[in-house]
Amino acid sequence: MKGVLLSGGTGSRLRPITHTGPKQLVPVANKPVLEYAVEDFKAAGITEIGVILGHKGRDEIQDLLGDGSKYGVDITYIVQGNPLGLAHAAGCARDFVGDDDFVMYLGDNILKSGITDLVESFEAGDYGAGIALQRVDDPQAFGIADVDENGNVTELIEKPDDPPTNLALIGMYVFSPAVFDAIDNLEPSWRGELEITDAIQSLLEDGYEIDSHVVTGWWKDTGKPEDILEANRLVLEETNLTTDGTVAEDATTDGRVGLAESATIEDGAVVRGPVSIAENTTVKSGTYVGPYSSIGANVTLSNIHIENSVVIGDSEITASGRIVDSLIGRSANVESTDGLLPEGRRLVVGENSQLKL
Ligand code: G1P
Repeated sequence: MKGVLLSGGTGSRLRPITHTGPKQLVPVANKPVLEYAVEDFKAAGITEIGVILGHKGRDEIQDLLGDGSKYGVDITYIVQGNPLGLAHAAGCARDFVGDDDFVMYLGDNILKSGITDLVESFEAGDYGAGIALQRVDDPQAFGIADVDENGNVTELIEKPDDPPTNLALIGMYVFSPAVFDAIDNLEPSWRGELEITDAIQSLLEDGYEIDSHVVTGWWKDTGKPEDILEANRLVLEETNLTTDGTVAEDATTDGRVGLAESATIEDGAVVRGPVSIAENTTVKSGTYVGPYSSIGANVTLSNIHIENSVVIGDSEITASGRIVDSLIGRSANVESTDGLLPEGRRLVVGENSQLKL
């Protein structure tokens, strides 16, 4: 079994954060989303991974993952070039996959329980593909599976107007190499893409059985800022957070506070977990960092009240006021011009921005 990790796409729904970098590198609990997928592969015993690169962020992704050795896996890079759809991306992995079965994992998806169950369930039978499903409230926004009373998959439809069920295809699939012929025969969908959902439907029509597996733990497609914040909450809730940095005597910490060794919470600051604070970051006097916040490396926070937010890194936030439910891009600075901002501000701030409130 091999792994194919999709890291292309434009990240349009995460703009302005993704104007400059790939969406798969946005951090959740101070770890890029893509790393969670690599760890899931490793945990499922899959160590040969092909990473499909689009136009955006090729260098950053290769700088982060390298040859995979730091994760105990072996990474091969494959360039997709133009984003012509998930099935096109999968098709680019044909030579890499050869005659093996493979898991395809969308690099901007993150899930609690990993992919081991999905892989084991596929391997226990004789299937053309295996799909992971979860019930959603907005089935028109996903690929949807219809199943009969015995749980057998009978039809797959991409973003249906009139969904037969609310069982969404989530971003992890297992395929036999038969999928490549199905991909070769696809026509672009209404959105101009080669849809992986259509490739699985064509396997079904060719008589292959499709294994389905309903995932009960949480799953997030981190396509939008609110999804990043929610994934951040879910991961912080479960991550082991340790306080390795310096907490000054007159600072207050409460709950689980992850503090990197070189990070500091100064006198007069209050940090209430679960919170993750990365390397070289300083929380200065008069600052409150509230639950479900992840503050990246090389950040200075002063006088600010911030909660339920992600600050990616290399920023100075010196506004006297409240920032809530916000996503602040790398190297973005936020300061206030005139006194207190009593109301909570919800911000999505792009990389290298200067914001005066
Ligand atoms: C893609 C797939 C869709 C799937 C979803 C999961 O949608 O086309 O079938 O349900 O990922 O995140 P997209 O993110 O391209 O809209």
